[in-house]
Amino acid sequence: MEDKGYIEETDVPQFNYIHQVVKETLRLHPPFPILFPRVAQETTEVLGYILPAGTRVLINVWALGRDPRYWKDAESFKPERFEEGVDKEFKGNDFEFLPFGAGRRMCAGMTFGLTTLELTLSKFLFHFDWAFPKGVKAEDIDMSETFGASVSKKVNLLLVPSLRYPFPTFE
Ligand code: HEM
Repeated sequence: MEDKGYIEETDVPQFNYIHQVVKETLRLHPPFPILFPRVAQETTEVLGYILPAGTRVLINVWALGRDPRYWKDAESFKPERFEEGVDKEFKGNDFEFLPFGAGRRMCAGMTFGLTTLELTLSKFLFHFDWAFPKGVKAEDIDMSETFGASVSKKVNLLLVPSLRYPFPTFE
């Protein structure tokens, strides 16, 4: 990357740690904490609970991602938990990790969203060094979230970039 001086989409699959960081972020801070409502088409039993036909079911992705029954040290931000060999994926089969939902109504833009996210983050990190504003420490960062169908950070993250690798100019 240093040789050519920029990052392009085809480089991204080799950035394993960026992928782990994105997965861990989506586990702790899913942008859609509650999936689109589902309705039971017929009376059914789930984990001993009877759901009469017509029951509206809401899946709390946020709570599943922080459930200590499924996640070791669930409240800590540890991208390493997704190192290769750890089998939790967000493709709709591991029900404790559903940032893109599951089943027929699963996110239609998962690949596009992920690629855009990882490419943008990689470029930011490659071209700039990042520091906190003077006097701010990591523990001062407020990670609280807005309330709503889709959530974002309540308090904007302020960082100071300094240029590391300028963008190359293409003739
Ligand atoms: C990191 C980025 C994204 C996240 C976390 C996300 C998450 C989600 C979630 C949780 C759902 C509901 C799934 C369910 O209820 O099972 C959804 C649905 C959907 N998403 Fe995304 N999404 C992202 C990006 C995108 C992008 C970039 C597009 C389009 C370009 C997109 C298009 C859609 C569509 C069309 C649906 C509705 C699918 C349906 O109802 O059949 N999403 N998304």
